[in-house]
Amino acid sequence: MDKLIAPSILAADFGNLERDCKMINESEADWFHIDIMDGVFVPNISFGIPVLQSISFHAKKPLDVHLMILEPDKYIKKFADLNSEIITIHYEACNHLHRSVQEIKDLGVKAGVAINPHTPVSALNSIINEIDLVCLMSVNPGFGGQKFIENTYIKTQELKNLIISKNSNALIEIDGGVTYENAKKIIKLGADVLVAGSFVFKSKNPRKTISELKSV
Ligand code: DX5
Ligand code: ZN
Repeated sequence: MDKLIAPSILAADFGNLERDCKMINESEADWFHIDIMDGVFVPNISFGIPVLQSISFHAKKPLDVHLMILEPDKYIKKFADLNSEIITIHYEACNHLHRSVQEIKDLGVKAGVAINPHTPVSALNSIINEIDLVCLMSVNPGFGGQKFIENTYIKTQELKNLIISKNSNALIEIDGGVTYENAKKIIKLGADVLVAGSFVFKSKNPRKTISELKSV
């Protein structure tokens, strides 16, 4: 499978969301990455359902919704109703991860599980065959514009091995601090989806930057 590029809306200009959504629509990007932060699970609040409603209205590509929130079960249905293609919940935020994953799938949405930089890949052993995507956090979640944590390379390799050994179809998504330089190495190690926020939106020509990432 060709790799997928998911620009993170967190780094967009919120005063010009329609313009930035249009840019993604017209670019070579594959998905919209949507970061929802609750100020409890992570030390930051991003945006919530009304803003996602507008994004969903303008977006012409699948919405990849990354929930950095405690008790995601309370909101899964609301996010599913907003045309989410994938809903990713955090391993560290769920008491009953299997049940939450099931809830997402029962709504006809693809289910992803994200793990923080300190969480070992082996934590996914018993869930890897139930999910469509693993989001490996390559920064501590909560903010855009952070530096890529190098240990993610080893974790990408470990995750690839786990997926192969279990015959799982889960995609590997890398989220945080992705740049043109580290993208090459990450893809070589088996990643399928690259999330990029600052690298895309802070560049002179975001559309061109997306296309450069796509051709890594
Ligand atoms: C971090 C978010 C990321 C972030 C990526 O908590 O999950 O998706 O927006 O932004 P950059 O690419 O700037 O690190
Ligand atoms: Zn994210």
